[in-house]
Amino acid sequence: MKQNKQLLDLKNTSSLVTGAAQGFGFAIARRLAEAGSNVVVADIKLENAQKSAKRISEEFAVVVDSCELDVADESQVIKIFSRYPNIDFLINNAGVFSNYTVTNLSSEEFDRIIRVNVRGVFLCSREFAKTKESNGNGNGKVIVNIASVDALNPSCVGQVHYTSSKHAVAGLTKGLSVELAPKGMRVCAVCPGAALTEGAIELVQSGSPDGIDIAEQWAGIAKQTPMGRLISPDDVALAVLFLVSPMGASITGILLPVDGGITSQPYEGYLESK
Ligand SMILES: NC(=O)c1ccc[n+]([C@@H]2O[C@H](COP(=O)([O-])OP(=O)(O)OC[C@H]3O[C@@H](n4cnc5c(N)ncnc54)[C@H](O)[C@@H]3O)[C@@H](O)[C@H]2O)c1
Repeated sequence: MKQNKQLLDLKNTSSLVTGAAQGFGFAIARRLAEAGSNVVVADIKLENAQKSAKRISEEFAVVVDSCELDVADESQVIKIFSRYPNIDFLINNAGVFSNYTVTNLSSEEFDRIIRVNVRGVFLCSREFAKTKESNGNGNGKVIVNIASVDALNPSCVGQVHYTSSKHAVAGLTKGLSVELAPKGMRVCAVCPGAALTEGAIELVQSGSPDGIDIAEQWAGIAKQTPMGRLISPDDVALAVLFLVSPMGASITGILLPVDGGITSQPYEGYLESK
């Protein structure tokens, strides 16, 4: 039986994290590297990916590589997974978001969100699974999708496109887990609540083109959260670390909320104390 400290030892493994130049992706790549996994920092913004990879490699004695990858571009995805055929852990983190109420939501914006958040997860998972098939070695390989609490219920108004995309990530997670389990592979999703990552800060600071007061919306989310705070990138990274590690060995097909309790709210008034 493995000792506790061995359970978090990821030496001799490799991980690829999409959208890892900043935000959750960076925090995830950093924690995986700390556990001893060699890491590929993949991002649509190469220069940012290179800078983030450098920061991680200065901190931990693992191999840290970086690459340019648009997860929704099929030829790029195929190329990257043939360049890195020995990845053990794929973290599908890259994602985009915006705020528009449905009557102001253009079909172009709807497609943009679906393209990255859904097609991107599909393409990377498919190519990852293919490399395991051709290696004949799926055992112990893990995919973790960074979904959202929006994979369970809408978090706020202005999110029809985003909520749809994250519900689809929930479907991908469950469907992939069923198909890949016989090959020894596990597929899970982490469902974070709101976190002030670089991307989220940009959204809050830019204000919604649709006139939604996003700053007020996010302050409201923190207030409504039973733990009384937003989520941090490291909260998400620790959940990913748990799921890919041998501690998660029997866990597949799950949607794990990391949300300070916001999805466990009683219906309004239901539990009001008298
Ligand atoms: N921040 C939140 O409150 C929150 C909550 C729940 C879920 N999420 C999800 O977590 C993930 C990360 O979000 P974040 O807040 O860290 O965002 P972020 O904007 O801070 O970082 C996202 C990174 O992904 C990269 N990226 C964007 N499009 C890409 C593409 N097509 N291919 C590859 N890389 C791409 C960006 O360059 C950026 O480096 C997303 O899937 C998001 O939907 C975020």
